Amino acid sequence: MKNTMFRGVVALVAMVVVGTTLVGCNSAEHKKAIENRKIEKLLSQMTLEEKIGMLHANRMFSSGGVARLGIPDVWFSDGPHGVRYESVDNGWASLNWDNDACTNMPALSALAATWNKELALQCGEVIGAESKARGKHVQLAPGVNITRSVLNGRTWEYFSEDPYITAELAVPYIKGVQSQGVAACVKHLALNSQALSQYWISSQTDRRTLREIYLPAFEAAVKRGGVMALMPAYNKVDGLWCSENKYLIDTLLRNEWGFDGLVVSDWNGVHNTVSTATTGIDVEMGTAIKEKGLYAFDKYYFANPLLEEVKAGNVDEEVINRKVRNILRTLLRLDAIGKRPYDTTGMGAILANPEHVAVARKIAEESVVLLKNDNKVLPLNPGQYKKVAVIGVNANTKFSLGGGSPKVKAKYEVTILEGLHNRLGEDVEILYAPGYKLLHRQFVAAQHRFTDEFDRDFPELAAEAVEVAKEAELVIFVGGLSHEHGLDCEGYDRPNMKLPYRQDELIAAVQKANPNTVVVLMTGSPVEMGEWYHSADAVMQCSYLGTEGGNALARVLYGDVTPSGKLTNTWAVRLEDMPDIKLGEYPGNNKEVCFNEGLLVGYRYFDTCNVAPMFEFGYGLSYTTFEYSDLEIAPVWNDSQEEFEVAFTITNTGDREGSETAQIYLHQNQSSVMRPAKELKGFEKVSLAAGESKRVTTTLNRRALQWWNEAEQCWTDEAGVFSLMVGASSRDVRLRGEFELVK
Ligand code: GLC
Repeated sequence: MKNTMFRGVVALVAMVVVGTTLVGCNSAEHKKAIENRKIEKLLSQMTLEEKIGMLHANRMFSSGGVARLGIPDVWFSDGPHGVRYESVDNGWASLNWDNDACTNMPALSALAATWNKELALQCGEVIGAESKARGKHVQLAPGVNITRSVLNGRTWEYFSEDPYITAELAVPYIKGVQSQGVAACVKHLALNSQALSQYWISSQTDRRTLREIYLPAFEAAVKRGGVMALMPAYNKVDGLWCSENKYLIDTLLRNEWGFDGLVVSDWNGVHNTVSTATTGIDVEMGTAIKEKGLYAFDKYYFANPLLEEVKAGNVDEEVINRKVRNILRTLLRLDAIGKRPYDTTGMGAILANPEHVAVARKIAEESVVLLKNDNKVLPLNPGQYKKVAVIGVNANTKFSLGGGSPKVKAKYEVTILEGLHNRLGEDVEILYAPGYKLLHRQFVAAQHRFTDEFDRDFPELAAEAVEVAKEAELVIFVGGLSHEHGLDCEGYDRPNMKLPYRQDELIAAVQKANPNTVVVLMTGSPVEMGEWYHSADAVMQCSYLGTEGGNALARVLYGDVTPSGKLTNTWAVRLEDMPDIKLGEYPGNNKEVCFNEGLLVGYRYFDTCNVAPMFEFGYGLSYTTFEYSDLEIAPVWNDSQEEFEVAFTITNTGDREGSETAQIYLHQNQSSVMRPAKELKGFEKVSLAAGESKRVTTTLNRRALQWWNEAEQCWTDEAGVFSLMVGASSRDVRLRGEFELVK
């Protein structure tokens, strides 16, 4: 009896499982079929003119809909760090609304330095929620371009020189944005690694480098992040603008990766009608075709000119239909069709609400990188110094509205000076001296090549700073870069890696006046250390920290938070050591720029060619210390889909809590192709109380072993021995092991 019962239960369970699976498969296919039916029904009711009207801007930040069918205009907004202010219909200027201010999240370079996937998700959720509240359909973020040249003015708004961490943080960010009912838009596909000549230069690299370095984050965004929109880059690749590049958009994105979402041009990134229209791009935005000084949207390449080309039979209407389908599919997935367009009810309760600014502060706090802390000068004791000098104009500057398209009208932004006042209260006297000025000069984007524009000082301000330093018991020098044209700003490349306005001399003078000086560098990209570095006990780096930045930094300086940030770009000792300059071409010859360094980008170059950096990729100190032990590697290679586990123990051997990011690097000891000395293939961040140990387990998939075989057009691995390194940074390897891939 029991056996019969048992068999009956098994059969019932099996039926449920099979049924569920079938329903599961069916539900996905069923959903797709319903979606397609809705799309075809709408499409069949549209005139050619209405279809064309959906393919180009009808305002600066919207493209056309079809109101009579309940298809809304599609509203786009920048950017990666928050929702841009409402701008006029025909231009970039703000409408100066009094209710569109948002949370300014820390820059993506700051988010990257947290190495925290959960925070990347939360960052996306905040930005997605505020974008939705502001009535947007597509949030133009994240930018995932790889840092090839550290002079690129957009380094601050990207994640890293490494494709793995870029992908690992972009995917949760995208999921976070899209969880709020807004499409994320991964950008800029591809090889946009400098501002100089970016609108016309062709970036050239070999296909293996393209696949292994510059595409993985885009591939992950599509395949793992389910990103709903994508933006091609301004530059050309293989002589074709990215917006008309069939290899990138059709062969790779649409066909190989199966992307069925919306491809929107960069603003002014479309340069012709037929060649671009017959590629898989859907919407043309921002083209600088003007009449009487106003953008002439009906004269855009995808507007009347495209209508004429279809009527003349040069472009098949099915080409138009494909684009409209992609837009309708995206709007259906956003449940935006038939909805009141631009529904911003309840906006005020969402923008920069307490939960959102708390996430901004958490990211900012975890992004701060402790570069040096001799004699344990940090953390500071709030009761120790009663007169503190804060020197450096960056301490008293709000950055939210700077840097180019990522600008955000922040509900508020706490400067570092304000954050220190908040943290120290009335008991401590805080003196302030700017030491130098930000000149905010304007230059022509992508054309102006900076040389010595920042090689000047301000003697009176420097003298005042020295006097203030003498009066104080402690000096906190806040230097670094800024969002001025030619520093951390879209559209311009930096002239060099030096701190602007002769800060090196200023810091040295301040140190001389008061050796008890802590240096904080606010930079979105690597800078050279001046002689002052050797005299400094404590040096910290942070990128642009957003709305709660000042509070976050003060809390790290005074030990409420233990710093856990780690660099995601290599800081070379000098610019000349950089691979794009040493091996590659930078900035190219105004027609093309050849990435001759190939795979050797960032630490891949420094470690393979044994060049010592100032600070390596993955570097960052803590107020406590960590030990690593008991490495176990368990590869199981019966099936290429299987993953293998790596386990090790981390112990907090210091006297205070702290978080540590353990990084896992691989190298194939013998290989038929050149492989970099090490490549990041995993990381785990753990929080530990003083004395606490944790067993950390992570999994690596087969792709971690593979390289791109262009001849075979596939990811390839070959039998052999692999070295596995577990590091506190790319050069501070704490555990080593080997495993063999047997085929
Ligand atoms: C800019 C940027 C892009 C941005 C767009 C809209 O020039 O390249 O990242 O989203 O135009 O501002």
